[in-house]
Amino acid sequence: MVQRMRIGVTGGAGYIGGHVVRDLLDAGHDVTVIDNLSKASRANIFEGESNYHFLEADLTTEIGLSQFLESRPEVIFHFAAWKAAGESMLQPGKYSANNLRGTFRLIEAMLEHDVKAMVFSSSAAVYGEPQYLPLDEKHPLGPINYYGFTKLVIEENLEWMSRLAGLRFAALRYFNAAGYDVAGRVRGLEHDANNLIPILMEVAVGLRPGIEVFGTDYDTPDGTCIRDYIHVSDLSAAHVLAMQHVLDHDQSLVVNLGSESGLSVRAVLEEARRVTGHAIPHKDCPRRPGDPPRLVASAAKAREILGWKPTRSDLKTLLESTWSAYRNRP
Ligand SMILES: NC(=O)c1ccc[n+]([C@@H]2O[C@H](COP(=O)([O-])OP(=O)(O)OC[C@H]3O[C@@H](n4cnc5c(N)ncnc54)[C@H](O)[C@@H]3O)[C@@H](O)[C@H]2O)c1
Repeated sequence: MVQRMRIGVTGGAGYIGGHVVRDLLDAGHDVTVIDNLSKASRANIFEGESNYHFLEADLTTEIGLSQFLESRPEVIFHFAAWKAAGESMLQPGKYSANNLRGTFRLIEAMLEHDVKAMVFSSSAAVYGEPQYLPLDEKHPLGPINYYGFTKLVIEENLEWMSRLAGLRFAALRYFNAAGYDVAGRVRGLEHDANNLIPILMEVAVGLRPGIEVFGTDYDTPDGTCIRDYIHVSDLSAAHVLAMQHVLDHDQSLVVNLGSESGLSVRAVLEEARRVTGHAIPHKDCPRRPGDPPRLVASAAKAREILGWKPTRSDLKTLLESTWSAYRNRP
């Protein structure tokens, strides 16, 4: 039986945050969300529920931060950040201000207010070019974009604060988050989605003419790149388990969250055609620099330590749930 807790969620009206908040509310927790709505969806604000409080404010402002902490959270789930790796290389200052400065200040304020623990949205981008596969947590760390660097710096700061100040954390290194709540409880679509599956959906609903497949001559079974997609509800389940683990064991944790099954671009494209019933025109294009042929997680540590097991990350569920969200978009 999970104890009812006061949980603060930054970026809780965004894509992953919205799913996690929905699950936390349904589990009976008291949830306070801070989101500046820059990339959020209003459909992910669950107003009117007695255990939910929404604060439209920017986490990087002192006023926003202090109002957020007035809810006296016991744990903070920290999703708020910019997340476009390509953009981070062109506008590093934007990423430094939000992902670094905003999170440093949040952690300081957590210490000041005696908040026990943070569940931090890290990323597989902390690894950089894979030296071996599947990528486990012992793989050398070497981000190849500024976004990945911001995630690594925060992980390192959390390690120090865990050692020196007793702050406990779970750094969850997500691979490619995908899919939508299968029961349709979360309706807001991800903003500026840059990943394959949302792009395919945008073609199917007529927002784009077609897609480009970058590289068809990789050393993979069908020549296209292979990636690890993890369903957002499987991610959500891991957040609750990670929070419980950190609090029960008074111990910090760094884990990968991936499905461990690589899906090729071509396989995803073909399944998207089947699920949407749309021809989804595509053009084969040359490889993009910096795209490794395969990126697949080892999630053995999360399985062992948290008892976590993805149950919705098969290709069919990923695509059917996303298609349903796009067809019923608000
Ligand atoms: N989506 C993925 O595949 C993926 C993979 C690895 C890591 N992550 C990380 O997970 C987290 C959530 O990702 P997402 O896909 O839900 O992104 P998202 O953009 O949908 O959600 C982020 C939310 O934070 C809010 N926000 C941003 N800066 C803020 C600020 N300063 N103050 C208040 N609110 C702010 C946005 O409005 C948005 O609602 C991010 O930290 C991201 O880096 C995502």
